[in-house]
Amino acid sequence: MRVHPSILSADFTDLAAEVRRIPTADAVHVDVMDGHFVPNLTLGLPVVERLAQVSDLPLDCHLMVEAPDRWAPAYAEAGAAGVTFHAEAAAAPVRLARELRRLGARAAVALNPATPVEPWVDLLGEVDMVLLMTVEPGFGGQSFLDVVLPKVRRLRAAISAAGLPVAVQVDGGVSAETVGRAAEAGADVFVAGSAVYGAEDAAAAVEDLRARAAAAVAGPVDSGPVDSGPADRG
Ligand code: DX5
Ligand code: ZN
Repeated sequence: MRVHPSILSADFTDLAAEVRRIPTADAVHVDVMDGHFVPNLTLGLPVVERLAQVSDLPLDCHLMVEAPDRWAPAYAEAGAAGVTFHAEAAAAPVRLARELRRLGARAAVALNPATPVEPWVDLLGEVDMVLLMTVEPGFGGQSFLDVVLPKVRRLRAAISAAGLPVAVQVDGGVSAETVGRAAEAGADVFVAGSAVYGAEDAAAAVEDLRARAAAAVAGPVDSGPVDSGPADRG
């Protein structure tokens, strides 16, 4: 269970310090928005290049941009550990994923809530992670869309059937209240912006989310041997 805080909810005037607030995180989620693919505009390559230099944590770059075939490879070259492009925007996603991997990054594809996962089932070997958006992309602080959970389940089942080591990331509205449902459905990488950076103790919020995700899949707490009667002994 990995937690990637999104710096979209951090103080953009002091990103280096904001990254130091989350030493408990597994990576830093960097939301790149171009004002075209999504209505919002955030940051781009020069900021990612500097973040890669100052951050002790790997960078997980989520590109909400048009023409990722053209722009995404530069993020891998800038030092991002992972680069995620949107299925809705990529012209040649297999070629792009292979290019990202060739440049040494983990390649991931993101799917908006209304984008089906089924076309990706045969392409799972081309990516290291699939990001299922649990809000419409563009802004932090939106409510988690439970309608995406069946898609999380179908994706996890397809990955298991293929026997591939593909991670399932959920992004949007992940909080102490929703993280368990996402984990139970099969997600194993959790992006959280406002739930982490809105907390007084961001590092503790990360650990709390990870623990809740783990608890959701661990099942009932073992309280010693249980004898449930003859039915159990066949
Ligand atoms: C939304 C971004 C998310 C965003 C999540 O388009 O991709 O990464 O930062 O923010 P919260 O966790 O506040 O929903
Ligand atoms: Zn994101």
